[in-house]
Amino acid sequence: MLVLGIETTCDETAAAVVERNTDGSARILSNVVLSQIEQHAAFGGVVPEIAARAHVEALDLIIDQAMREAGKSYDDLDGIAAAAGPGLIGGVIVGLTTAKAIALVKNKPLIAINHLEAHALTARLTDNTPFPYLLFLASGGHTQIVAVLGVGNYVRLGTTQDDAIGEAFDKTAKLLGLGYPGGPEVERQATRGDKERFALPRPMQHRKDADFSFSGLKTAVRLEAERIAPLSPQDVADMCASFQQAVVEVVHDRLRSGLRLFRARFGEPHALVAAGGVAANQAIRGALNRVAMETGTPLVAPPLNLCTDNGAMIAWAGIERLALGLTDAMDMAPRARWPLDASAAAEGARKRTAAYK
Ligand code: KG4
Ligand code: ZN
Repeated sequence: MLVLGIETTCDETAAAVVERNTDGSARILSNVVLSQIEQHAAFGGVVPEIAARAHVEALDLIIDQAMREAGKSYDDLDGIAAAAGPGLIGGVIVGLTTAKAIALVKNKPLIAINHLEAHALTARLTDNTPFPYLLFLASGGHTQIVAVLGVGNYVRLGTTQDDAIGEAFDKTAKLLGLGYPGGPEVERQATRGDKERFALPRPMQHRKDADFSFSGLKTAVRLEAERIAPLSPQDVADMCASFQQAVVEVVHDRLRSGLRLFRARFGEPHALVAAGGVAANQAIRGALNRVAMETGTPLVAPPLNLCTDNGAMIAWAGIERLALGLTDAMDMAPRARWPLDASAAAEGARKRTAAYK
């Protein structure tokens, strides 16, 4: 089975061709990713309109390159998969419309993929991980602990009440005058900083649920920075180290809690799986390793280029769905919001509304 995958939900224009053999093993024949980071860096974050235009300009070429590198023609494909959300709607429209056009012209099935589902299933592309497993999705837009029970069967065990984890890194970096994206910069600074210098809070620690909250931590960083301003380079490094240590301890605690919830409801998971750009952080990987060792759960951490946004994960999710006969009609609409676990999302919205009453 051979599928083309297209990813345009954020600031990466990506396309890939992935093949699944009869024995279930997967092969990535091509995986082309064009990052728009330079176009957004001056603004300190992704600008939706710039992203959408950049996707329009680049996508045809990226798909063409992915097909050429794979050495396949469109006629060889069994399906065309595209991320149909959640994400910045302009970009999602570009990717989904392009996929529809190819599917229509070449008379191939269209597979509309939930971007989060693609992250969730990547461990099966890289490691053939059997269901069920526990997913920790940690990116610039998402922070979720999810029980992955089967294709299309996801139960959200924990999520953030405010900022996403990557967003917390990015905002901390911005506050300290570091570049965008902030995560890698904070990690670099932290290596030469004192992680015990600033006593920052560990939000949500020791709670029975598996939820996160980062806005209080961000505020604590701001208050400390204001207190000691102006900041020397060593102050910045110490602040980064102290911030990262707080996040690491929170991730460790929340994952332990998530694992407990998983076991109570679904038994023993086959693995603890990492996904999302923040999983690139070595200190956070250390926390994942610790949870894995302490609980005797194997850790599956896909290579970095498959943790961050890419087309191969979309193509693979397309293969998984196509194998089950799950294809989509041409009137499939792009979605800015598209929760993996609709019931948990509805419950979260209900709670938030109640809190304001
Ligand atoms: O998954 P991703 O590439 O894009 C989406 O958000 O979908 O994740 C990007 C996020 C950014 O917030 C970035 O700052 C963060 O991942 N990130 C990191 C590191 N590398 C990327 N955060 C902490 N440490 C890193 N080394
Ligand atoms: Zn992503």
